[in-house]
Parts: sequence; structure tokens; C-alpha cells
Amino acid sequence: MKIAVIGTGYVGLVTGTCLAENGNDVLCVDIDKNKVNQMKAGVVPIYEPHLDVLFERNIEAGRLNFTTDLKEGLDFGEVIFLALPTPEDEDGSADLKYVLGVAKEIGEYITSYKVIVDKSTVPVGTADLVRTTIEQDCKTEFDVVSNPEFLREGFAVDDFMKPERIVIGSSSERATEVMQRLYQPFVRSGNPVIIMDEKSAELTKYASNSFLATKITFMNEIANYCQKVGADVDKVRIGMGTDSRIGKRFLFPGIGYGGSCFPKDVKALHKSGKDINYDFKILEAVVEVNEHQKTILFPEVSSYFDDNLEGKTIAIWGLAFKPETDDIREAPALYMIDKLLEAGANVKAFDPEAIENVKEKYGDKLQYGKDMYEVTEGADALLICTEWSIFRTPNYDLLKSNLNNPVIFDGRNLYPTVELAKQGIHYISIGRQK
Ligand code: UGA
Repeated sequence: MKIAVIGTGYVGLVTGTCLAENGNDVLCVDIDKNKVNQMKAGVVPIYEPHLDVLFERNIEAGRLNFTTDLKEGLDFGEVIFLALPTPEDEDGSADLKYVLGVAKEIGEYITSYKVIVDKSTVPVGTADLVRTTIEQDCKTEFDVVSNPEFLREGFAVDDFMKPERIVIGSSSERATEVMQRLYQPFVRSGNPVIIMDEKSAELTKYASNSFLATKITFMNEIANYCQKVGADVDKVRIGMGTDSRIGKRFLFPGIGYGGSCFPKDVKALHKSGKDINYDFKILEAVVEVNEHQKTILFPEVSSYFDDNLEGKTIAIWGLAFKPETDDIREAPALYMIDKLLEAGANVKAFDPEAIENVKEKYGDKLQYGKDMYEVTEGADALLICTEWSIFRTPNYDLLKSNLNNPVIFDGRNLYPTVELAKQGIHYISIGRQK
């Protein structure tokens, strides 16, 4: 099939590349000339495991192309994916100016039947809005469908190539048939393509992300409670997660969820409820508890140093909002960095992928290490904010000889408390017995 993908952000790029990998001809459109030139030269503009291999292969095979010309894209694609940004407005709702701007141009330009696919996470009712915007000037038949993405950063290629489910919101048989044909190769294992109306598909995305954020937040509260009553959240988590109705995944407590999706989507769903006088009380609590969760480790660090961090050096492992990404949006590490700097501490930071992004934000206010042990040399404590695999089995002897004090504050519960006690390391984690 011939596919155009409008917008080469995270979602657009993964969608375009993976669709090309399955034999489709894909033209990706972006207004950013530099980015398009870079991509034409084979450079992937984001860090995402395995994407570079697929990217190169499909460019070489001629199935994956790039342009800045929206009209060229609209001429080319039978299916037009809209993968445009929907930034958070000041009031927490999603700003649709990019999506509706392109919809207007589609209406003015297309001359043959197209399936327009909303891939961005957009509020309930957006497919209708896109449809009426296109209709204003359109002289040909078209359909709008909603096809939310469920990709996780760091696993996006795998999630796209082997999805647990595909959700299609469509009220047109013709468009549904096109979408089923497009996705059929991705669900050979028998995973479902679920067809529903557009509004339900749009809400499925918000409901899924909000549910997962709620699940994590619930566990964060259980962990905080464990700390107070002397229970161990690791044991509680395993005890709970073996009930298949609860499930083992997304029960890991920490210093709060971050990223570009959960924080934005929970707030947007809450705000969209408010707009129609529906009060999503649970979502309000999730936002509040998550903000609080980001703050819980700093007082532990501070009180260990008798509330005087002036001149102390704190090493940080992990800056990205989660492993396998260079994304630092809403990363809990940023809160910790701000608080440490405010208290007069020196911060030496290491992350396998996110250092460049942190440098852009903090410049020389921080010191940056080339490897995980370098930042611990002469530091007064180690603080862990992201659970990269490389941090999971450290050389304890090297750590102890590098650190001025054998102390670790772990916001991600990476190490067995018993082992750390054996090592003689003072170890503070989240919701576990010391
Ligand atoms: C999330 C969803 O998982 C995807 O399905 C969705 O497509 C995506 O948002 C999106 O809307 O685009 P992502 O933000 O990449 O994906 O990251 P997750 O792996 O879901 O993690 C989100 C946050 O929750 C991270 O900060 C992570 O550290 C935290 N988390 C996750 C926990 O604190 N505990 C857990 O048990 C799991």
C-alpha cells in the first residue's frame, strides 16, 4: 500500500518505518527541513532501540522516503497517517492546532479517496472535528478513522511489529477494510484488530494510559504505607501480582511516573471531564500523588546529611524518565537535580543515553560522567533515578572505594536490601524494609 505519514516525531517515525518494513511504500512528511535532510541521509533523529536498522534497510530498499512537501504526501498516500504533536495547553487540555491545520490543507488539496488516520493521542470527538474541517473545502470522498498507538518508548519497534491489539475507530466499511488489510500482517499470531466507533477508540487510548498511571500510583501509595508500617512492598507486590486479575506488570513503585505520555494524558482526560461537568476524582488524585511521589526521596538525602547539603557531592545514576530512552520529559531525576542544586550540593550525573538532553537544560551547572563509576569518584552519596539494566549488578567494591560514604538512595528499588546490608552499604529505597 502507499502510505503518507504526516509528522515525523516519535510516533510518526516508528509508524512509517515499521509500515515500510512490512513492504508498504511510505512517504514521511515534516515541515522541518533540516530534519528531513538528516533523515534522507539515513540519520534517525531519535534514540529508539532497533529503529536504526529498520530505518537504513527501508531507505536503501526505496520503501521509505521523506519530504517537506505536504501536497506531495497527500498525492502519494492512499492512507494518510496524522502523527502530529498535541501539546498540553496551559489548562491541561490537548492543543489541536497542528492536527486541524493539516486537516484544513487536506480538505483543500485532495482529489481522490483517502483514508485519514488519527494516530496522535487526541481528545474524544477529534475524528469528528477533523472530518468536519476537511469537509469544509473537500471535493472528493474521504474517511477519517481513529487508530491510537500503544507504543512504549524503548520498545516501540517491537510493540509496532507485534502489537497485543490494534484499535480502529471507524464508521465506514470501506475505510475499515483498508485498515484491516494494512494491519493484517502485524497480527498473524492471532492478536485482535478491534473495530469500534471513533469516540470509543479515542477514549481507549486515554483510558489505557490513565489506568496504567493509576496502577503505578496505587503501588506508590502502598509503598509509602509499607515504609510507615514496616511492611515490604516487594513482597506485597509479588503477593498481589500473582492474582491474574491484577497482573504482575506496572506494579513497580518508585519516585513517580514521567515521560511525554502519562502526565499529559491523565491531565487531558481529567480536563476533558471537567469541560462537561464530569469530575474524574480518581485522576485528580493520581496527578497529585504522582507530584508528591517525585518529592519523597529528597528529604531522605537531606536528613542523612543533617539537612546541610552545601558543598556535598551527589552522584546520580539515571536521568531519562525510564530506561532505554534519551527522553527526559517530566523525568523524576529533574526534580532531584533541582532540589540538590537549590540546597547547594554538587551534582555529578550519568545516564547511558540522556546526557546530551540534560546538558541542554542544565549546561555547566552539573558535572557529567563518561561512565557510571566515574561520577561516584569522591561523591558523598549515590542516588539512582532510572533503572537502566547496567546499574543492576554494580561492582560494590569499586563503589565503596569511590564513594566518600557507602550510601545509596535508590528511587527504583534495584538491589536486594539484604545484599546491600551485607556489603555494609547504607541503603534507602522505596517502601522496603531496611
Ligand atoms: C506509555 C504507555 O505504556 C504506552 O502504551 C503508550 O503508547 C505511551 O505511553 C504513549 O501514550 O505514547 P511510555 O510513556 O513510553 O509508554 O512509558 P512506560 O513504559 O509506560 O512508563 C511510563 C512511566 O511509568 C515511566 O516513568 C516509568 O518509570 C513508570 N513506571 C512504569 C513505574 O513507575 N512503575 C511501573 O511499574 C511501570
